[in-house]
Amino acid sequence: MTMRTVIITDKATGKTVECPVHEGRYGAPVVDLKNLYKDLGVFTFDPGYGSTAACRSGITYLDGEEGVLMHRGYSIEHLAEKSTFLEVAYLLINGELPNQQQFDEWVHVIKMHGMTHEHLSRFYQGFRYDAHPMSMLSSVVASVASYYHNTTDIYNPEHRRLTAQRVIAKMPSLVSKIYRYGSGLPFVYPDNSRNYVENFSYMMFSWPTEPYIANPVAIRALDLLFILHADHEQNASTSTVRLAGSAETNPYACIAAGVATLWGKAHGGANEAVIDMLTEIGDPKNIQKFVDRAKNKDDNFRLMGFGHRVYKNYDPRAKIIRQACHDLLNEMHLNQPLFDIAMELERIALEDDYFISRKLYPNVDFYSGLIYQALNIPTNMFTPMFALARSAGWIAQWMEMLADPDFRIGRPRQLYIGAEKRDYVGIADRK
Ligand code: CMC
Repeated sequence: MTMRTVIITDKATGKTVECPVHEGRYGAPVVDLKNLYKDLGVFTFDPGYGSTAACRSGITYLDGEEGVLMHRGYSIEHLAEKSTFLEVAYLLINGELPNQQQFDEWVHVIKMHGMTHEHLSRFYQGFRYDAHPMSMLSSVVASVASYYHNTTDIYNPEHRRLTAQRVIAKMPSLVSKIYRYGSGLPFVYPDNSRNYVENFSYMMFSWPTEPYIANPVAIRALDLLFILHADHEQNASTSTVRLAGSAETNPYACIAAGVATLWGKAHGGANEAVIDMLTEIGDPKNIQKFVDRAKNKDDNFRLMGFGHRVYKNYDPRAKIIRQACHDLLNEMHLNQPLFDIAMELERIALEDDYFISRKLYPNVDFYSGLIYQALNIPTNMFTPMFALARSAGWIAQWMEMLADPDFRIGRPRQLYIGAEKRDYVGIADRK
């Protein structure tokens, strides 16, 4: 079979380049433009990377038209129903689901790395009492680098493995301390008799004077959210981790860069923004006003938790979370007026031609905040929870990048539109 190619001809110069087309297992084929500049002297221009495959990856596949998401070939629906976050983290990093012995070892090793250096606890004291948790998280994650100088040789596979374990193991402690600090509560050491998610909940919510008994319904709901947030292909924060890592940067600094990117409300910060928006709507009778604002081009307001760069269909994660939210509220006998507003907002938006024609559906963040809220997690901690889970994907993608034979520093080019060459003018002679 002849290889599929795309021929690009520059009509101005008459030069032609024939570019190979690579077929992945699924998804759109990819035109290989590696030699474009060498052969034609031109760059590609693709703002927002809407048509650019930045790397090869075998971790996550998503089909935005069909609303499909898979990790290592396993559908998100199956993982959400049958797996746990820690098992999914293993899968992302190692490529296969663990057998019982591998899983037991994995759980053990994650527990062994769960504590953070005692000095790190003092780092938190430097923040104002009301600092945004994402500002704290990006800093404390980067600061972890300072404790592991001797085990972050990125070309040493053993160091990479150790780093992945440490990142996954320490995130619950790093995140819970942010909440405890802001609430004026003492920090809590991990309790290795508890599983990963329960231990996180214990470090967040236990009271120094009382025994802590976790609610299994809440733990399962948290675990589910962590599974659904664990990885999502080459999104903005993951691409940031890869780009930072391509400069051979310290891995904890790479993860901190991912945290910083996730903070934005176009990305992970949307879960917090959704609750703010639903609270502001306040009553189903106000929904239409907000929908009208979202449609108004002169107003920069957007419906938070709606739309996605890749999904042009219902985000499969949102479908799972919506049901989980419904079940959780029922099981915990909670009356959550914001859930009713969210459902009604979804109904109105999905019947509106503006949203239909642009294929704007609820995304993962539309309902996740409602679950966090039902679990008494404060709004400004939603995005750190997302970061905790996504750190599994970030570190898996970082490891994959370093093992890629095509690995080299990421260095996009630009279309320069600035001033023409001109002479320097002394300050006294400037207008
Ligand atoms: N409300 C109103 N209009 C919207 C929305 C929205 N939420 N999202 C997109 N549009 C419109 C947009 O104005 C544009 O209209 P037009 O074609 O008339 O100019 C059209 O839909 C296409 O939008 P876009 O800006 O080209 O889409 P994008 O792929 O660049 O942006 C997005 C994707 C997620 C940033 C955007 O949909 C958005 O801002 N959504 C709200 C924030 C949000 O929920 N973010 C979470 C994303 S999922 C979780 C994660 O990534 O962490």
